[in-house]
Amino acid sequence: MELDSLLVFNAVTVGVCVLLLMLLVRWVTHRPANLPPSPPGYLIVGHIPLLLKEKPEDLYRELRAQYGDVFCLKLGRTYSVVINGCDALRDAFVKQGDDFSDRPSGSYLLSYLMKNKGIVASSGEHWKRTRTLSIACLREFGFGKKTLEGRVLEEVEAFLGVINEQNGKPYNANRLIETAVSNVICSIVFGDRFEYDDDKFKKLLALLEKLFSLIPFRGCINVIPWLRYFPGDLIGIKLFTKVFHAVRDFIQEEIAEHKRTLDEGNIRDFIDAFLREKSKHELNDPVFDDFNIEISVMNLFVAGTGTTAATTQWAILYLLHYPDIQIKLRGEISSVVGTGRYPSLNDKPNMPYYQAFITEVSRKGNIAPVGLPYGAKHDIQFRGMTIPKGSLITANLDSVLMDPTMFPDPAKFDPNRYLGNDGQLTGKEKQVLTFSLGRRVCMGESLARLELFLILTSLVQRFDLVPADPDDLPTLLPVPGATLPQPFEFRAVLKTNKA
Ligand code: HEM
Repeated sequence: MELDSLLVFNAVTVGVCVLLLMLLVRWVTHRPANLPPSPPGYLIVGHIPLLLKEKPEDLYRELRAQYGDVFCLKLGRTYSVVINGCDALRDAFVKQGDDFSDRPSGSYLLSYLMKNKGIVASSGEHWKRTRTLSIACLREFGFGKKTLEGRVLEEVEAFLGVINEQNGKPYNANRLIETAVSNVICSIVFGDRFEYDDDKFKKLLALLEKLFSLIPFRGCINVIPWLRYFPGDLIGIKLFTKVFHAVRDFIQEEIAEHKRTLDEGNIRDFIDAFLREKSKHELNDPVFDDFNIEISVMNLFVAGTGTTAATTQWAILYLLHYPDIQIKLRGEISSVVGTGRYPSLNDKPNMPYYQAFITEVSRKGNIAPVGLPYGAKHDIQFRGMTIPKGSLITANLDSVLMDPTMFPDPAKFDPNRYLGNDGQLTGKEKQVLTFSLGRRVCMGESLARLELFLILTSLVQRFDLVPADPDDLPTLLPVPGATLPQPFEFRAVLKTNKA
């Protein structure tokens, strides 16, 4: 090549490279106007390293102190807006519910595994119809009605029977609690409860335990889906995917069996009710496609088991750590219910100490600190800032539950913080938003509250709960990286004046 042409060629190449570089820098560093404030980030990866370093709720506590109730992180190309504190959460999820009720697209669990179907992962009209229909089908089987109490009590009796069989010996009741809680949702959704020694059920619960301990809502995979392409399985996503499919296989089999035996004159359970509705709608209605039914059933089954079981386990752990609280609770049960019958929901309004206790367990247990992820389907104007379309949005429930201005010394376990001098609830308990808020507030709140009440009060009414080794109390630290209590043993010693 001639020298002149070479020089021209090189100049063009350099020019193109500089232009590309400038475009790249602009692409990477461009910041839409009016974004919520954010800490300094790294080139290209933004704030991903911060999220990899610590639990999201811990990071968010630090950032809220510096940047206020609404701040923003950049995860690669995606903005992640975190909303903190009671006021900002209510402004967003209640007052601007139209804007703040969609799930994000692009999350591994919601979009890749659940394909944005079912109740938990879908958005817009599809979500509204699936959620409304699911609630209607659940109501046919007592959900939200007084009749549900009988179903839960039946399970409580079976649960207490197994506890009694241990004769006060040290026992790890974690699996038993999961079985009892899961059986309630199984009886509603699948039409049948399982025996406690049923091998198929035991396997399923082991899968659920695994699923919960690995849940990637909290982890970075949710916001950085490409992490799944990394070799090995450092953050457990491959294992999670395998377990997810195994649970789905179980549900698929249940639905197939229900289809085979469906009798519209005898609707047995939630699945039957859903299938009956399907026959009233057009064949291609997406709410009734097989995948949407499977994922909806799976949502109820998974969300209905791990959360309530973990809260029950936390409650027992706190009762072991605080025998004085246990005595006070038993005193209330004894004066309101006595020992001759099971507690009933009618008793609950007369049991402020129980309500204060379970509220504090829920606050400190903090089992869903950052809730489930939301997404911005369009640019959202919020408190004078712009949340760009496509952003992830976090309802940071932890920011309320652990807020020292609302709950002084938040690390302390203290049911009295909800009670006035007269021993009655002050209304503060309503600020403990463990079930989230707004349009997507937990669908199973009333069932969860009913189960917690009947299981815990019946247990404390009949048994003294004592640590397996009084000199070595089980830890109050959760499973590392998760919000579940670590497995523990305790002794349930039968009281002489049992019901
Ligand atoms: C102590 C027990 C429970 C806790 C702490 C809890 C907490 C939560 C939270 C924080 C959310 C996220 C709400 C949001 O997106 O802002 C949620 C959603 C949900 N929960 Fe629960 N939950 C519990 C029990 C249950 C039970 C027993 C069921 C089943 C019947 C259930 C079914 C659901 C469903 C289906 C959703 C998704 C709602 C939607 O996206 O529209 N949960 N729950």
